[in-house]
Amino acid sequence: MTSTLFLSSLRSTASPPNCRFHMSSSSRSGRPSFDSFDTICRRRRRAWESAKASVGVEPRPTVSVGPAETGPVDCGGKLSAWTSIRQERWEGKLVVEGDVPRWLSGTYLRNGPGLWHIDDYNFRHLFDGYATLVRVYFEQGRVMASHRQVESEAYKAAMKNRRLCYREFSEAPKPASFLAYVGEVASLFSGASLTDNSNTGVVRLGDGRVLCLTETIKGSIQIDPDTLETIGKFVYEDNLGGLIHSAHPIVTESEFLTLLPDLVRPGYLVVTMKPASNERRVMGRVNCRGGAAPGWVHSFAVTDRYVVVPEMPLRYCVHNLLRAEPTPLYKFEWHPESGSYMHVMSRATGKIVASVEVPPFVTFHFINAYEEVDEDGRITGIVADCCEHNADTSILDLLRLQNLRSFAGLDELPDAR
Ligand SMILES: [Fe+2]
Repeated sequence: MTSTLFLSSLRSTASPPNCRFHMSSSSRSGRPSFDSFDTICRRRRRAWESAKASVGVEPRPTVSVGPAETGPVDCGGKLSAWTSIRQERWEGKLVVEGDVPRWLSGTYLRNGPGLWHIDDYNFRHLFDGYATLVRVYFEQGRVMASHRQVESEAYKAAMKNRRLCYREFSEAPKPASFLAYVGEVASLFSGASLTDNSNTGVVRLGDGRVLCLTETIKGSIQIDPDTLETIGKFVYEDNLGGLIHSAHPIVTESEFLTLLPDLVRPGYLVVTMKPASNERRVMGRVNCRGGAAPGWVHSFAVTDRYVVVPEMPLRYCVHNLLRAEPTPLYKFEWHPESGSYMHVMSRATGKIVASVEVPPFVTFHFINAYEEVDEDGRITGIVADCCEHNADTSILDLLRLQNLRSFAGLDELPDAR
């Protein structure tokens, strides 16, 4: 899925101590402590099983999205996940069935596509939806919730003009004439026509600023985590340029780390940004080993000492980027003959320390990565876990809304591994 989970603050004020929604690690072995993680998962599961929440009292709808819902509506079942939100903003108190632990205190933010139509024009793909931020706030056993549309330029233009105005994942505005098409092409290379619909993730930087992100660099938008108000475009104050980056950076208290695919000289820049700064600095560069374009990097993996840069045979295609109609693989092409690789960059030097050819693979999300060490503490390997779709690009097409909404009681999506 394209949404990302974000926990702005979660503190434990009573037993059990140190209960946090993240994986802990063992410093002795350098490998993740799965016992600790399992314990945390069991603790979370118990908490959530005892706290089934439903939409409740005192809702305060504020701004309607517009015309009546045109897609299928099934708010009681699975289809509700693929149904457009009905208000631009909403907030209210949730009724809790069971008990929410009183020590659970903090804010949970989630971002993802939430509006898939403009009037009677319906979008085709899950990834096209305009970004909807959802906030759940826990305090002393109470739960408040709200959601609000991210006011990107793409969203605002669509609401004002009642039509698509920017290029989304599978949708593009229809040029009125050949001259308009030429203008479109020119604006694409400048990035002007690309969307800034930041519907893919939400992260908190080390300095507390909260950003909604998508794969276009211009789609980095700062929001207020309390009101969900859109503060404005997050401007990277450097000269790195480029149009796209990984949708899911690695963000810690001390660093924002991401990849910038280079469509001109096929490769990737690994860049970092410190808290309280808008300037990205280059850690190093990876040159592609196969193909005339870099592979798609929706996400990537990082360990304590290394950055793992995947080079998938599902590669960006500038020609497909320019098309007004969606192609079977949208802005990508599948080139298994070009090879698949995992590049490993030292975080200390920016140098490539390993570049390994691997079987063809397709993945959206890396989950975890860690270094394996021997008894003497020497690093013997790197493990990068990802959710792999079996080298099958059909997952992209299966995420069309028509497929998702044709729910027949079974999960129709293919298994990943
Ligand atoms: Fe994602």
